[in-house]
This record gives sequence, structure tokens and C-alpha cells, in this order.
Amino acid sequence: MNSSSKPLIAALNGDRVGPPPIWLMRQAGRYLPEYRALREVAGGFLNLCYDPEKAAEVTLQPLRRFGFDAAILFSDILVIPHALGQKVTFEAGEGPRLDPIRDGAALAELSMNNLHQSLGPIYETVERVAADLPAGAALIGFAGAPWTVATYMVEGSSSRDYPNAKAWALGNPDGFQVLVDLLVDATTEYLLHQVKAGAEALQIFDTWAGVLPKYAFDRFCAAPVWKIARRVKAAYPDIPIIAFPRGASLYLPEFAAAPEIDAIGIDYAVDPIWAAREIQPHATVQGNFDPILLLAGGDQLERRAVEIVEALAGGPHIFNLGHGILPQTPLEHVERLIKAVRG
Ligand code: CP3
Repeated sequence: MNSSSKPLIAALNGDRVGPPPIWLMRQAGRYLPEYRALREVAGGFLNLCYDPEKAAEVTLQPLRRFGFDAAILFSDILVIPHALGQKVTFEAGEGPRLDPIRDGAALAELSMNNLHQSLGPIYETVERVAADLPAGAALIGFAGAPWTVATYMVEGSSSRDYPNAKAWALGNPDGFQVLVDLLVDATTEYLLHQVKAGAEALQIFDTWAGVLPKYAFDRFCAAPVWKIARRVKAAYPDIPIIAFPRGASLYLPEFAAAPEIDAIGIDYAVDPIWAAREIQPHATVQGNFDPILLLAGGDQLERRAVEIVEALAGGPHIFNLGHGILPQTPLEHVERLIKAVRG
């Protein structure tokens, strides 16, 4: 089957597909017992990301179990800082730890010299998954958006409101731009190599896009993501690009109107009826089922899933969550969600 006859790619190309294709953000992960078993033997999360055989297996696990319409490469957004020379570790149960970069001197230590050497195993994962993909399913590659990746690089960990990254971005925008430009270059290279290895669509995760004032969102979220997308499309004009600027709410229609953006991921706080009116004319809409409701289950699970499908049925739509699936989510709830969406 060629890419364009796959439901996910058709929806990304602007077709109304009924029922909508479905995949879930973070679908490969700890809610799956088969993931937990493989992670156990891999010895650490980053080891798993850099082990092409195991990472390919983990990428395909959710498709085997649930028959999703897409696989998303198993990796992490923080492999880019790691490939640029920053120290990155994941402690079990604690999330990521990085040696924080807070000034121009620390920034000058980073370099693209070992980029592809460091990311090589991930390209091999993409090749392996592409060769083993179930018929009809599409392979999505991904990267973090420069702003979101920068927040981890500057804070050194997850944080509630990113005081150091924001202070740098708002207080010394030209200095912060140096970091963002480096991330634009590295991320573009990374995504181009994923496409070369067999990725059929790309998603750019901007998880923390919602914490910036509009002028800084324009400069550090929208402009860098558009630039990456434009450069990828200069080499691969037909590769669809999904942006997920989480929390960007009222900035979304303008963001979606950029010609290089094919689809927008909407979080659970966006009204799907509003998205049908304001975003679907510009881009395919993906989202926005609340992952907490997937965890909770009950009658509301079917009711709210159908409500989203109906709200977005007039244009191109990909069913997904409004953010990543939670590790405690019961497998039966995922099965019920898929059944509700596929009717
Ligand atoms: O199935 C998939 O979606 C593919 C793999 C994927 C992972 N991370 C694997 C992962 C993807 C697409 C990501 C993206 C990612 N990583 C984002 C953006 C999306 C989002 O959820 O907002 C961000 C912000 C990160 C950074 C990150 N990675 C954090 C903050 C953490 C710790 C919190 C947590 O969920 O554990 C991770 C770890 C991580 N990335 C895990 C997985 C499966 C858990 C690691 C483990 O097995 O212990």
C-alpha cells in the first residue's frame, strides 16, 4: 500500500475520512505491560531509545495490540540536546535531568559535529519500523519544538512555569535566539534523516507553547516551527507536518494558516466545535480527548469521544488525545475508545 492510500495520510492531505484515523500520543509506553517488560531488560530509558531493535519493537507494540492507524517512532524529544553534547539522564520515576544551560558560554559548548553519529541508531529504528509496518498504518516521525526542548535544556528538568527559560527568552531575546537557531538547525537535520529512513509524516511537539506572551510565542514557537517545516518541505514537498503547540488556544488559527503546516494537534481545553470553524479550514485537526477521561472510563468515555468525532466530521480529522496517555490507563479503556471512534 502506498502512503497516500493510508487513512492517516489521506486525512493529513485534507480528506475527510470516516471513521477518522486514530492513534494516541505516547501510545508506546508504560501503560503497556509489554513495554514495561522490554524497558526492564533494556536497562534505562535512553538505552532503549538508542537500541534500534528494541525501540522498533516498542514502536510496533501498540499497533499489534490495538490496530492503530499510525505508529509513532519510539524516541524522546531530549535526544537532540544529548546529540548536541549536553548531559541528559532519565532517573526512574523522576523524569529527565540535564546539566542546565543558562548563558552564552554554556551554549557555546554545544555543537552539531556529532549530531548524526549520536542520532544514527534512531534512524535505524525508523528503517526497521518502516520495513515491518502493518498494512494501512503510517509511520510518524517526530521531534520537540525548539521552545519546548529549550525549556528542558535551560531548566535542567521538568518545571512548573519555566522561570529561567522564560527570563532568558523575554529579558534577552537576541541571546536566547542563538539557542533557538541551533535547535532549528539540529531539528531540521534530524527530521530530514527520519524522512529519508522511512517516516511518512512528522509531528513537532511544543508541549510548553502555552506559557509565553503572544509576541514571544510568535518569535520562539511559531516562527521556528514554521522554519523547520519549510526547510523539510524544501527537500520533501509531500511530507505532511503536524504541529502540536499545546496551550496556544486563541493563537491556533493564525498558526494553522501557515502553508507549511498540514495539521494541528489541539489539547483538551480547545472546544472542538470552535476548532471545526476556526482551524479546519486551514489544517487537519488532531485531538482532543482528555487523557484523564480515558483513565476514568465510564459512560462519559463513549459519549465525549462521539461528540468530538461529530464536531469535526465536516472536515479532515484525526482522532487523538489532548495530551499523552497516562501510565495508569486501563487497557480496556483504550479498546473502548477505539470501538467508540470506529463505530
Ligand atoms: O509513544 C510515543 O508517543 C513515542 C515516544 C515519545 C516519548 N516521549 C517516550 C517517552 C514521545 C513522542 C515523547 C515526547 C516527549 N518527551 C515530550 C512531548 C510530548 C508530551 O508528552 O508533552 C516531552 C515533553 C518529553 C520529555 C520527557 N520524556 C519527559 C518530561 C519524560 C518524563 C515524564 C514521563 O512521562 O515519564 C520523558 C520520559 C519518556 N518519554 C517516557 C516515554 C515512554 C517514560 C520513560 C520510562 O519508560 O520511564
